[in-house]
Amino acid sequence: MTDRYASFVQSAAGRALVKRLGLPDPPRLRRHHPGDPLLTGPALLGAAVGGRLAEPVTAILTAAGVELRDTGTAAPQDRFGALVYDATGITDSTQLRQLYDFFHPQARALLPSGRVIVLGTPPSECPAPREATAQRALEGLVRSIGKEFGRGTTAQLVQVTGDANDTSLESALRFLLSGRSAYVSGQVIRVGVGAASAPADWDRPLDGQVVLVTGAARGIGAALARVLARDGAQVVALDVPAAGDALAAVANDIGGTAVQLDLTAPDAPTRLADHLASRHGRVDVVVHNAGITRDKTLGRMDADRWDQVIDVNLSSQERINDVLLERELIPAGGRIIGVSSIAGIAGNRGQTNYATSKAGVIGLVDSLAPALRDRNISVNAVAPGFIETRMTARIPLVVREAGRRMNSLAQGGLPEDVAETIGWLAWPASGAVSGNVVRVCGQSLLGA
Ligand SMILES: NC(=O)c1ccc[n+]([C@@H]2O[C@H](COP(=O)([O-])OP(=O)(O)OC[C@H]3O[C@@H](n4cnc5c(N)ncnc54)[C@H](O)[C@@H]3O)[C@@H](O)[C@H]2O)c1
Repeated sequence: MTDRYASFVQSAAGRALVKRLGLPDPPRLRRHHPGDPLLTGPALLGAAVGGRLAEPVTAILTAAGVELRDTGTAAPQDRFGALVYDATGITDSTQLRQLYDFFHPQARALLPSGRVIVLGTPPSECPAPREATAQRALEGLVRSIGKEFGRGTTAQLVQVTGDANDTSLESALRFLLSGRSAYVSGQVIRVGVGAASAPADWDRPLDGQVVLVTGAARGIGAALARVLARDGAQVVALDVPAAGDALAAVANDIGGTAVQLDLTAPDAPTRLADHLASRHGRVDVVVHNAGITRDKTLGRMDADRWDQVIDVNLSSQERINDVLLERELIPAGGRIIGVSSIAGIAGNRGQTNYATSKAGVIGLVDSLAPALRDRNISVNAVAPGFIETRMTARIPLVVREAGRRMNSLAQGGLPEDVAETIGWLAWPASGAVSGNVVRVCGQSLLGA
């Protein structure tokens, strides 16, 4: 689906009208293409006194080919691709002033689609209440910058535990600085311990990984299959038999394999496990993307609509996880990735069934991530906001326009934006990112 308004505002007439009438001004977002540099300009690094991450961040960004500046060497007219600030040294609210001192002079210094990353410590890990308070305060700064800086800027807080290793931090920085995270903003992402291994080639971060994508015949699932295959994965694409032709087209296109299966069938978990065992001997990454909506307000909803949505979006996924885990088909270093929704965070009129199922996906992350830590399997989810697909094309025009613009980037995301975020969570290098729900919503106002 195309966003005609976003195309119009890029024209000369559109620009003039937007300026005159103060209309929403969706910027053109920088998106990833293989071989792209991480940033379009140098990164300005800053650090609060006593920070612990300046050294690894410098090493990671230098190795990634990023040109680095600090406040001592930067000139007032310099423009940057990113502002990266190590705030781990902040242990008291009175020290928050250091953030103002760093960011205030740079408020207009970012290039289009610039990146702001603040690195902190998870408040739950801070030894003293004052430090936890000050670290929690960072969220407000980051979320406000995401709303203020404009021109496609995204802003994130990355909370790094004391025992996190450098590869984990590297994977998060590479994703968040790159065009892969074009539609991710205002997020708090936690990087902890866990086995993480850097790829031989960062342009093929999924080389050799066997990845199952459910609901792969169209929409986000088809984009996912393409992005994961581009990044080196062997993709097993699954969808219902009725979508067999479209599924085969996707699988052929990417050199993957197709599995026609209704996930809610009673024998689906064993049939899927048998298939993965005989064809691949394992599945490194399971992406539970298949999902349905059956909207009605609760009073008008028949029990069938309720049951179908809970079964496809949640219960069938639990049954599949159980069998794959029981048969040890997901090895150490494996990933389980769910697809929630901002409806699961904010709730939505007419979607009690859907929002319940999608909040359940978040519950699954919360409960399964700690339970699988010892097996070295990470569990995360993405929560897409308004994504331009057939699902959102069906929304009535006025509601659709509102949903599309009510975020810091004033536009809907693309299926590729969700796919890139899932891809990042799947990387072997992201092993220490577990228990996260990352919103891909352009910092939507819903549920914020
Ligand atoms: N499009 C959005 O804006 C948006 C927003 C938030 C969350 N999501 C979620 O993202 C995921 C993908 O959404 P989409 O917009 O691409 O949807 P879509 O309807 O275009 O695609 C979903 C796919 O899942 C498949 N599927 C449904 N039931 C199945 C079953 N029982 N067994 C196997 N396959 C089944 C369908 O055949 C279809 O190919 C869903 O989980 C959805 O809830 C989408």
